[in-house]
Amino acid sequence: MESLQDTAAQLRCPSGGQALEMAQKMNEIHGTLNRKCIELMHIRPGDCVLETGPGNGAFAGEIVGDLENVFYTGIDWSSDMVMQARTLHADLIESGRVEFLLGDSSAIPFEAQCFDKALTVHTIYFWDDPAGHLVELERVLKPGGLLCIAFADRTFTEKMPFAQLGFKLYHAQDVRALLEDSGFLVQDVRQIAETSTTETGEIVDKLFNVILATTRPMKPATHDSSTGASRCEAN
Ligand SMILES: C[S@@+](CC[C@H](N)C(=O)[O-])C[C@H]1O[C@@H](n2cnc3c(N)ncnc32)[C@H](O)[C@@H]1O
Repeated sequence: MESLQDTAAQLRCPSGGQALEMAQKMNEIHGTLNRKCIELMHIRPGDCVLETGPGNGAFAGEIVGDLENVFYTGIDWSSDMVMQARTLHADLIESGRVEFLLGDSSAIPFEAQCFDKALTVHTIYFWDDPAGHLVELERVLKPGGLLCIAFADRTFTEKMPFAQLGFKLYHAQDVRALLEDSGFLVQDVRQIAETSTTETGEIVDKLFNVILATTRPMKPATHDSSTGASRCEAN
């Protein structure tokens, strides 16, 4: 990466000649946190799982695992990431269990109540209107659906020079309040400490938040979610 500005821009929307390098770096650096989230989501047979901002979808295979009738949809606003994800996961896409779509998580291209579970890791910093994104995630989750949102804590990110370039930084309690205001019921807030490399190559102590929140068990019915083993089509 040429400069801090490049790093910040590539983290926000990996694009062009640097996109592959950034995706590989993110997959390596973010692996532990993504795997912790997948473990905490307890994905079960029949689950339809949405991920917003998956980059090149490195963890999609681990999300669907070998469970029966688990469907994964990844939505990213970077066309380069969607293209890479489709190439990397051609077999899973061919099997009909995984899809990658170009889109913005502020306007998820699905009808209401399509997904059992949703995941978003290291994306909240880029949301201009965080409440709008959370309301959108709440909309597409089924009643009692689970959201797992993971992000680096402000105590760590405020020391990262690239994160000063347009990132929105949060403590766990800020996101908890946003989730509650958006209609979620917060079930668990975990903090995870890790010493590892940053996207700019330094080894530092990091602090991450993983928040698990559910939608309310009763929502007005707009989609027949009783079958479980089928998935919604994108609009
Ligand atoms: C820092 S990367 C994190 C990627 C991956 N989740 C990980 O943990 O390594 C942020 C990703 O979110 C995507 N992204 C950011 N804002 C988005 C939005 N509003 N809608 C869809 N994708 C978004 C970016 O294109 C990028 O692929």
